[in-house]
Amino acid sequence: MSKLTLDRIEASGLRGRTVLVRADLNVPMDGSRITDDQRIVASLPTLRHLAGAGARVVVLSHLGRPKGKVDPAFSLAPVAARLRELLPAPVRFVNGSAGPDVARAVASLADGEVALLENTRFLAGDTDNDPRLAESWASLADLFVNDAFGAAHRAHASTSGLAEAVRREGGRAVAGFLMARELRFLGGALLHPERPFVAVLGGAKISGKIDVIEALLPRVDRLLVGGAMANTFLKALGLDVGDSLVEDDRLEMARELLERAGERLLLPVDCVVAPEVAEGSPTRVADRSGIGTHDRIVDIGPGTRSAFSEVLSLARTIVWNGPMGVFEVDAFAQGTLAVARAAADACDRGATAVLGGGDSAAAAERAGVVDRLTHVSTGGGASLEFLAGADLPGVTALSDEG
Ligand code: 3PG
Repeated sequence: MSKLTLDRIEASGLRGRTVLVRADLNVPMDGSRITDDQRIVASLPTLRHLAGAGARVVVLSHLGRPKGKVDPAFSLAPVAARLRELLPAPVRFVNGSAGPDVARAVASLADGEVALLENTRFLAGDTDNDPRLAESWASLADLFVNDAFGAAHRAHASTSGLAEAVRREGGRAVAGFLMARELRFLGGALLHPERPFVAVLGGAKISGKIDVIEALLPRVDRLLVGGAMANTFLKALGLDVGDSLVEDDRLEMARELLERAGERLLLPVDCVVAPEVAEGSPTRVADRSGIGTHDRIVDIGPGTRSAFSEVLSLARTIVWNGPMGVFEVDAFAQGTLAVARAAADACDRGATAVLGGGDSAAAAERAGVVDRLTHVSTGGGASLEFLAGADLPGVTALSDEG
């Protein structure tokens, strides 16, 4: 059943109302410096809309994994400072995430003002999904908006627990604009893909993505596999992968998948290899049947780049998760950047391309193609679970539409 979304809530009724927003402002930090503010920027449409309508906006988020203890290294104060720069509304930082002081701060908000509460994970009750904590938040709210797609796979007090508590009290829990956008694009690609539908999977391990492979295989026309997870498939074909990363305990699984997928699954035909997975290590291109005993595969090769790009050029729907090699090192990044460009070129020709996972998003950013892609998901684990067909507790707990 479809979930109620923020665009269905009459904006004229929001003035003076207290609206609790669960956002995923879990951004990478270097000390107190935000190194990538994409998740903050992605949260702005919902916050701007609510504040613009005169709501009193209370934002909840986690940052990192402080394990139920107050730890200044995980404070959301720098995120509040960034929000202040990005939002036209006044933004207040509240040094606490629940309790009487927080309730007082919330009660003192002006119409159109935004308050970001301190990290919800400073309280163990958040990750424990403590119903009393969820109820204490619900008691503050006239409306709950869950915009934290990146945390939707967690059944925590500030995600599903809060939505359930709000609904128990007769209130509404709705998907924010970002949440709705994520579900529309990821769900659309899975359920109603225009064909050919091509999935690109990379990253280190088959084991972490087996559910995604299983869920995508029956749906896609082509599945392109790169990154270290391709090594396990190559070894399963009987090829020597030298000293490359391999999951030996997954060889049987890889063989079975190869048999089931047949020609739909494309593996690298050549690879970039290096003696060390390190900056400055000399590289060479090797055919996949010519990998030396001490070689390490660090990227897909030029033949594979062309083959994958050609498949992508014909695609009408593309889902991509995971890099094709060790793309953090410039000399090993060409395969990943080529896939990013090929996906963007396909979009220029009218295809839909949806990227999930932090690494793919970072690769798209590096290739300078983010604006040409249909949608870059803010969810890492959440987008993987969604693609694997799992129910996301943060979504399931929302009010049904109609
Ligand atoms: C993420 O970064 O994937 C989300 O913010 C969820 O964080 P978590 O894995 O610590 O729950």
